[in-house]
Amino acid sequence: MMPVRGLINLPGDKSISHRALMLSALTGGECIIRNLSTGNDVESTRFCLLQCGISSTKSYGEVRVKGGKFTQPQKSLNCGNSGTTMRLLAGLLAGQGISAKFMGDSSLSKRPMNRIIDPLTQMGVHFQSDDGHLPITMMTNSVTGISYCPPVASAQVKSAILLAALGAEGKTIVSESIKTRDHTENMLKEMGADIQAKDKIIVKKLDQPLDKFETTIPGDPSSAAFFAVLTAILPNSDISINNILANPTRTGIFRILKKMGAGVEWHNLHTEFGELVGDLRIYSQPLNGIDITKELVPSIIDELPAIAVLASQAESPTSVSGAAELRVKESDRVTAICSNLSKMGCDVVEKHDGFIIYPGKRMYNTNINTFGDHRIAMAFTIAGYITPERNIIDDEDCINISFPEFNSILESLIK
Ligand code: S3P
Repeated sequence: MMPVRGLINLPGDKSISHRALMLSALTGGECIIRNLSTGNDVESTRFCLLQCGISSTKSYGEVRVKGGKFTQPQKSLNCGNSGTTMRLLAGLLAGQGISAKFMGDSSLSKRPMNRIIDPLTQMGVHFQSDDGHLPITMMTNSVTGISYCPPVASAQVKSAILLAALGAEGKTIVSESIKTRDHTENMLKEMGADIQAKDKIIVKKLDQPLDKFETTIPGDPSSAAFFAVLTAILPNSDISINNILANPTRTGIFRILKKMGAGVEWHNLHTEFGELVGDLRIYSQPLNGIDITKELVPSIIDELPAIAVLASQAESPTSVSGAAELRVKESDRVTAICSNLSKMGCDVVEKHDGFIIYPGKRMYNTNINTFGDHRIAMAFTIAGYITPERNIIDDEDCINISFPEFNSILESLIK
């Protein structure tokens, strides 16, 4: 097995990219965003905002967004494959009194939207949908603050409510049973909103536009996860990733890598635009299995496909529980992970809310069914490096959803 080595920089974090575009819309001026995620999901957000009167231009690696007044969209807003676009935009537009129709691709149309419909309805928004699935019509007049504890740990649900709260009468309180990614809160604080985020998050209606900003989005740790796992499973590998997001709600993957035995070092940690950023070094060392339980899941929710591949190369079993949310992502990721790993020859037991991986068997390259899911495609491209020949990925194009540069960066690391 050839090792991977080298130093890379990554396109901007996808979650922060969506939020930077959406919150730019609420400023009174022009915002400049560098290193925006280049994936189709973030483009979906930019196009939907354009349809709502928020213009932006892209050139020389930067995007300029003109904040201002939203207008009623004339056509359905196409959110493509992007759950973040759909859920956060519904909250943002609801707070601004904008009514809209939302649609998406076949994957997004299967995903549950009642999780945002319920709290936004409590805030005074009206929805028409087929049992909480796209296409959805949202009719908004005015909204009022609520106190809400999302029944599922979801940053998308939390953010939808917080964004609606920016235009809601009174105050809105969101309490989380397990803390999820907090980029919406961090960015709102940086931009001058009246927000407190401790045990509970309390937001008040904006009484003036948010402060305009200029920022460079740090590299996406969810994209880094694939290369970190590849480094950990290939002997003699050692990579560095500069300027990557180090927010603890997102770096569970690196804590797990360390716990399983891989070399993980952070350097040059500092804060930029409300977010912890640093340089990361990962190197290979023997790996042991671990037990991953519910409270860890939100900080690794998008990294579990890569973690499953990692676990297949450890010296002892790994179990994942409390991860039923994986079944309602871009695909049913529990089934996608288990079926593809077992096709490669690994012993896997599928559970309703996770899986158990028993490593040790020799694994083979095979044809991978991605189910059109970008993270399954990338995780099993990486898994193909365990075997003498590569895996054949049935839909490589779906990688463009989050990380069009994936294959070229991967090639640059193979020595
Ligand atoms: C995201 C939150 C997560 C994650 C998604 C991006 C976000 O979804 O899976 O890829 O940007 O808020 P949930 O919060 O619904 O788990």
